[in-house]
Amino acid sequence: DKPLVIGMAGLGTVGSGVARLLEDNAESIAKRAGRPVKLKSVVVRSMDKERVGAAKDAEYTTDLLAPANDPEVDVVLELIGGTTAARDLIVAALENGKHVVTANKALLAEHGDEIFPLARRKNLHLGFEASVAGGIPILQPIRDTLAANELFSVMGILNGTANFILTQMSRQCMPFDEALAQAQEKGYAEADPTLDIEGIDAAHKLVLLVQLAFGLNYPLEKLRIWGISRVTPMDIAFARQMGYEIKLLGTARKVDGKVTAGVYPALVPSHFLLAKVEGSYNAVRLEGNAGPVMLYGYGAGDLPTASAVLADVIAIARNCEPNNLGFPGMEFPTDADILDLDEA
Ligand code: NDP
Ligand code: HSE
Repeated sequence: DKPLVIGMAGLGTVGSGVARLLEDNAESIAKRAGRPVKLKSVVVRSMDKERVGAAKDAEYTTDLLAPANDPEVDVVLELIGGTTAARDLIVAALENGKHVVTANKALLAEHGDEIFPLARRKNLHLGFEASVAGGIPILQPIRDTLAANELFSVMGILNGTANFILTQMSRQCMPFDEALAQAQEKGYAEADPTLDIEGIDAAHKLVLLVQLAFGLNYPLEKLRIWGISRVTPMDIAFARQMGYEIKLLGTARKVDGKVTAGVYPALVPSHFLLAKVEGSYNAVRLEGNAGPVMLYGYGAGDLPTASAVLADVIAIARNCEPNNLGFPGMEFPTDADILDLDEA
């Protein structure tokens, strides 16, 4: 069978996980995809880094656009992060007729209005399952399994780094900075960890969830965003004494037909499922006609995120219909239907 050929940009936490899963699970991936999946090339920033055993059969390059310009490549994986070089790569790949898979929620939340319509115009896949809640399958269930539902609430713990820090502060009495350093060491944090601790990464994910769940393009700048940088050990201790855990939540719900959304540290009663989500785990709770549905799993890290990236690759290999807009016919409505948190 003709292999599906991948050109991958980025060999950090997520890219390395993808290379490893492709190698370790090559046989079962080929079976499920219906054909072999071959990692042809890898773009990195520096050729000088030691990369023990990673993607050993691939060609290495520092030419960012190499996978987009390679006629043999079927799918470009964008795993470099950021909103500049990543945007250039994705636009070039789509313009050149390549399917794209990305884990980059910042890019899609900020430039989705350019990238999603481009993918749709070209009738190409733009897979982004990995961009929200790491290894938890969340976008496909909203788009497909729950497609018959009118959803009216989406909420959850959407950032593994922040949840890891709060857990370490609460369970180990660890200082904030030490917990953040551990999250960085484990590969959970963004290149700029301000995005994690100030709630911005969770906000990027919430924007994507709102697009899928409510069909609404909720502009990032209209979201109310508070992070966890000012949460103190004392806050956590007092909350626990009163029967609560402090969790960074992203919430969006429909109130009288309008959508209100925000990211903020919240007091969650200790007996709630969300209060029991610890470490780098995430959880997302959806509410619609089917009643509440909650999904839980690792929200960050190499293999969980790689699993989500490769789910999109396998869907492309199977030649499923492109699902680049969340659901067919989804438009980018204006923000007329947005309700500020204060008014909700
Ligand atoms: P890392 O910082 O670990 O890795 C980034 C990789 O991209 C590195 O290999 C780096 O090269 C390469 N790179 C960066 N900029 C360029 C550039 N301009 N040209 C060529 N190569 C470049 O990032 P992560 O793997 O953690 O994250 C990647 C993406 O996945 C981000 O969008 C992130 O938000 C998202 N994500 C991350 C998760 C996680 O748990 N870490 C989970 C879900 C999503 P070099 O190795 O030479 O430095
Ligand atoms: N920095 C992100 C987090 C990675 O900690 O959740 C997963 O998107």
